[in-house]
Amino acid sequence: NQNDSRVIRAELLSFDADPGEGDTPAEGSVRHLEDGALWIEDGRIRAVDAYPRLAAELPAGVEVIDHREKLITPGFIDSHVHYVQLEIMASYGRQLLDWLNDYTFPEECRFARQAHAEAISEAFLDEMLRVGTTTAQVFCSSHPTSVDAFFTASQRRGLCMLAGKVLMDRHAPEALTDDTQGGIRDSERLIGDWHGKGRLGYSLTPRFAPTSTHAQLDAAGGVLRNDDTLWLQTHLAENTGELDWVAELFPGSRDYLEVYEQSGLVGPRSTFAHGIHLDQEMRARLAERGANLAFCPSSNMFLGSGLFDRLAAREAGLRITYASDVGGGTDLSGLATLKAAYQVGQLRGQPLTAWQGFYGLTLGNARALSLDSRIGRLAPGMEADFVVLDPAATPLLARRHQRCRTLSEQLFALMMLGDDRTVAETWAGGRRQHSRD
Ligand code: GUN
Ligand code: ZN
Repeated sequence: NQNDSRVIRAELLSFDADPGEGDTPAEGSVRHLEDGALWIEDGRIRAVDAYPRLAAELPAGVEVIDHREKLITPGFIDSHVHYVQLEIMASYGRQLLDWLNDYTFPEECRFARQAHAEAISEAFLDEMLRVGTTTAQVFCSSHPTSVDAFFTASQRRGLCMLAGKVLMDRHAPEALTDDTQGGIRDSERLIGDWHGKGRLGYSLTPRFAPTSTHAQLDAAGGVLRNDDTLWLQTHLAENTGELDWVAELFPGSRDYLEVYEQSGLVGPRSTFAHGIHLDQEMRARLAERGANLAFCPSSNMFLGSGLFDRLAAREAGLRITYASDVGGGTDLSGLATLKAAYQVGQLRGQPLTAWQGFYGLTLGNARALSLDSRIGRLAPGMEADFVVLDPAATPLLARRHQRCRTLSEQLFALMMLGDDRTVAETWAGGRRQHSRD
């Protein structure tokens, strides 16, 4: 029942601003209520306050759910993930281009079948909710059916999701290859059917430069120019073999990024996955346009792509988002993504703080994706997407938790030791959509 009014009593954590890189968060960036109350109504957050204060003004009969030993944060956001690769996670031993040919493309061919696309859409959303992810920017396959199936499943659950049909008009198996303009027409049909419908948004999805002709990239740029509410997602500078191939295919472009710039694909709603092999000048060009780089640490380690330089991106003023990049990534969990980001950071001498990590998974990703007026914070008027974390989910976590003296230590232990067991409940659109027990 959408009109249900409910209060959840728990420890609450939400960010109002970037906490910075320091061990203590920037003044005013963190909102933390040890004994908090989250009042939800009609799928939105109605009020957030200390429990005793909110309880005093609560009308009789409003249900109070007691989660006093739990920690609630906004729902996690995954800025880059391929739902169609769910079943090829953990395929052994290849770097990007061989991995695409040997595992990914054959798998994506299966999505020509509607029944398969429907089944995997449901399985993927179940898995996302199990790990506390309530919003993602998602690659489908090149089949329009795969997008219809994904949006239909997301719509039924009332989830805020961005997705798009992969555009590829060359260098892929014939079963996955678009006609240059046909792929664009299919995208336009999908935009008409899904973009802005309920909580859904369309993200134009040229796979990456090597699998689209300049003509197709230009046509995608044309669609984007006509509607500034559309998103765009693609890959950039992930792997050195990929860089060599792009240089060979686009001799008229000074560098990889210029291929996308020439087609008008770089803007404030554009997400470029990886961006490992960039120089500071390219980072500055991305920053100037307000685009974001999706840092996909578990994928970067799994595919041997390289160590993302997070601080160089920050220094250039570039927005960074956090992403699983499943099936290249080894884990859908946002907590696991933070753990991998910490490990990559250690190898670069730039360890990720828990403040920066949890900010990134929530408000940071929401801002970079222009979704922060709707999600990313526990605040009145926001759509009610949140995670109920259990800091003592396992005997080991309980032991570790007992020893934590500060919230920062507690969050760090969660990001290093947490997994799906740590997610007691996931709520989206004001409804409990996953319960561990
Ligand atoms: N580059 C082009 N396609 C892909 C993909 O499916 N996964 C990753 N990680 N990189 C890509
Ligand atoms: Zn990817």
